[in-house]
Formats: sequence, C-alpha cells, structure tokens
Amino acid sequence: MHQTRDVFTPTKPARIAFVERDSVNDKLVNSLTTPGKQIVVYGHSGTGKTTLLVNKLNQLYEHHITTRCMKGLKFEQLVLDAFDQLAPYYTQERQTVLKTTTGIDLGATYKMLQAKITASSSKDESEKQSRILPPQLTPQTLGRFLGAQKACWVLEDFHKIDEGEKERLSQLMKVFMDLSDEYQDLKIIALGAVDTARQVVDYDPEMRNRVAEIQVSVMTEQEIAAIIEKGESALNVKFSPDIKRLVARHSNGLASVCHHLCLNMCNAAGVMTTVEGPPIELTKKHCEDAVRMYVEEASDSIKSAFDKALKQRRKTQYANAHLILDALSGLGELGAARSDIHRRIQRTEPRYPEANLKYLLPKLCTPEYGGILRFDSNSGLYSFSDPIYRAYAMAQFQRAQPSARPMSQSDFEQTLLKFLTEKVKLDVGTDFRILIDHHPKKKT
Ligand SMILES: Nc1ncnc2c1ncn2[C@@H]1O[C@H](COP(=O)(O)OP(=O)(O)OP(=O)(O)O)[C@@H](O)[C@H]1O
Ligand SMILES: [Mg+2]
Repeated sequence: MHQTRDVFTPTKPARIAFVERDSVNDKLVNSLTTPGKQIVVYGHSGTGKTTLLVNKLNQLYEHHITTRCMKGLKFEQLVLDAFDQLAPYYTQERQTVLKTTTGIDLGATYKMLQAKITASSSKDESEKQSRILPPQLTPQTLGRFLGAQKACWVLEDFHKIDEGEKERLSQLMKVFMDLSDEYQDLKIIALGAVDTARQVVDYDPEMRNRVAEIQVSVMTEQEIAAIIEKGESALNVKFSPDIKRLVARHSNGLASVCHHLCLNMCNAAGVMTTVEGPPIELTKKHCEDAVRMYVEEASDSIKSAFDKALKQRRKTQYANAHLILDALSGLGELGAARSDIHRRIQRTEPRYPEANLKYLLPKLCTPEYGGILRFDSNSGLYSFSDPIYRAYAMAQFQRAQPSARPMSQSDFEQTLLKFLTEKVKLDVGTDFRILIDHHPKKKT
C-alpha cells in the first residue's frame, strides 16, 4: 500500500518510481565502489542527478552525509557542516571506540573539537554564523572522521560555490585520495547543474584518473515511460497507451513533468493510495484535468521566467529575447542550433546579426534570464528548458501572428495550449501585446 504522493514525486527524489539509468549506471557504480575514486556528477537541472545518487548510495553505501551548497558559502563552512553532521556517529553514549592507525581515539578527538568550536562561537554572540574552524580540524582529520564511519560526503549544487573556494575542495579531494589506503569508502561526490565537470570542480590535471566525471543527461522517452509503468504497478492504476505516450513525449526528458502530470491525474481520479481490487483506469478526462491543474500551478513561475527573459535591460535595436523565443517556439520540440534560430529570425528580420544570438542565447539559459532555455552540449541544440515554456511561447506568439501558427499539434499540446491561452488571456495578455506592438521596425 503506497501513498500516491510517495510514488509520483515531482519535487523530491523518486524512490518507488525510481527508474535505473542504464547509460550511467555502470560508470557510477564502478566509481562508487573504487577506493579513492572521487566523483563529479553534472548535467542540467532536473535531469535526475540527486535522485540517481541517493538511490545508488542507499543500495551501495553504509552512510553518507549531504551538504547543500549556496552562493557565498566558504570552504570552512562546508567543513564545519560536514563535521556537525557527523555528531550522531561520535557523540552517542555507547559507541565502539574507533582509533586511527596511529592509535588516536577519534571519538575523543571529535568531542574535543566540538567543544572548541562551541567555545569560539559563543564569544561573539552577534555573529553566530561565523563559527571558526579550529586549526586542528584539518582535511585529514575530517577524512578520518568520515572514513572510520564508512561514509562518503555529498556536496549538492557545488557549482554555486565561488571559484577560489573550489580550489580548496580540489585539494581536499587529493587528501581524501591519499587516505583511501586506510579508509576504502572515503570519497567526495560533488554535484552541479552545469555543462561540464570542470565547472563543478576545477581539479588538477594530475588527479584526472582518480576523478570520475559522470554526466547525467535528460531522460529518454523510454525511461520516462518506465516511471509511469512503475507508478501503475505501485498504485494499481492503468494509464491508456495514448496517455503514456503523450506524457512521455511531452515531458521533454524532464521526469518532474511526468511525475507532476501523473500525480495530477491520480488526484483527478481520486486515487490517493494504492487501489484495492481491480485497477482504476485513467482516462482522457483525467488527463485534461491534470494538464489544467498543471498549468494553474505553473502559471506564476512561467510568467516570472518570461518576465526575466524578456526584460529590456538596455536600449537595443531589436527586441532580441522576443525574437529568439518566437523563433524557437516555431522550430521543433527538440530544439534548434544557433544557426537554425538565426535563419528563422532572418525570415522577418533579414539583417538580424548573429552576434546578438551569440550573446543572448547563453544568457537565456541562466537564472537571471529565467533559465528559460537550456543548451545541450552533446547535440549543440538550444531548447526550452521546460515543455510548458515552449507551449506558453507558442500560445503567446500564435496570438500575435496567426499566420505563423504551427501546423501539427498533438491532442496533448492542444490541451496544454488551450488552458495556457485561457490563463494568458486572463492574466498577462495585455502586457505582452504592448511588447509586441513596440517591436522595433527594421532600420534602414
Ligand atoms: N531515475 C529516475 N526515476 C524516476 N524519477 C526520477 C529519476 N530521476 C529523477 N526523477 C524525478 O525527476 C525530478 C528531478 O530529479 P532530481 O531532483 O534528481 O534532478 P537534479 O538533476 O538533481 O536537479 P537539480 O540540478 O535541479 O538539483 C524529481 O521529481 C525526481 O523524482
Ligand atoms: Mg539535485
């Protein structure tokens, strides 16, 4: 018996509906089980890095601790956070005494350091945040604390850490490698939502062979379909093959979209826990309700993303972002290369310079611009980072230019568009029209 919300998990790592990622599984498992191997996991946001890792760590590792990184966080704070999380292992009443090869009692050392940290931080009450790292808490010491508990250290969102601090992590990785003789399981796993491993951790070239770089790409349609199937058997429901295919296709590689739609469909059908007796069939009606809910929930964040993307930051000859999103929404759902986007824009703006695209396309992938696009370095294609952004762009631009209406749309897309358009009409239609009316004319 499962709760539906534990099966379809749009906002947390999937466990019951976890689907193995064949393309990276062996590499990850090998790296996790190779002593001394440090790991960098990278790939766009939402591709499933955290989910994959937590599931594999649960299968393979005794313990792990996780530190979530934020902008501005200093290396010392990372170390302190790891240290704090080890407290349950070292401060219990009845624990086995763990000693290093040189006979140092780790439990006693831990408590001594803990006392030092507490003493130093109580001195200045005003700045509680800036706890001081005692000099005795060296990388080696931290490594021993972790290693003796057969634990590894996961650093989530490591790409957010400042460059200078990252270098110190690379040194820490080196120390951990050297300690692996003594502690087989000791390792650091750094995760980052970026394009290359080096953007996560810029480690020395000599460490190359001892750091595994693992890229997690968006999920395939088959993998997404497998999530639905796992959900079906866990909840004893049936999605029609049509619905399955459409959800898989329109999730555009993002499992969270699939989880979200499936969760909404179950909600629409009143399925809150595993169905007893014969399975419940989910119909087109449930699917429509699910899409409507999805649109309602997402509309605020869609709007804010588009606002950021379309914000006029300085005076320019062209409404660049608008032209790009318009062009891209008219190209295929898999995305398009820069040159394709350029050609498309040139249909209406023959002198449109490619330099503008070179500048703005990467920007549109950043949070400052709403993260509205993503770039896949394997295929070289830009696409909307979420299928709903694409639908929204289509809904917007179709109204503005009825002649450019895309020809072929699936039922699902039409449903999505229908609800989006309704929503758009109610809420933001006017704002957008202003932008379109002010669309600069070609200069002569
Ligand atoms: N292998 C999988 N099987 C089933 N669902 C998955 C799988 N991988 C990811 N998901 C689902 O996809 C969504 C995003 O996954 P996750 O948070 O792991 O991505 P991420 O790459 O860590 O993203 P971010 O970079 O933003 O942290 C979650 O809803 C999760 O449940
Ligand atoms: Mg994550």
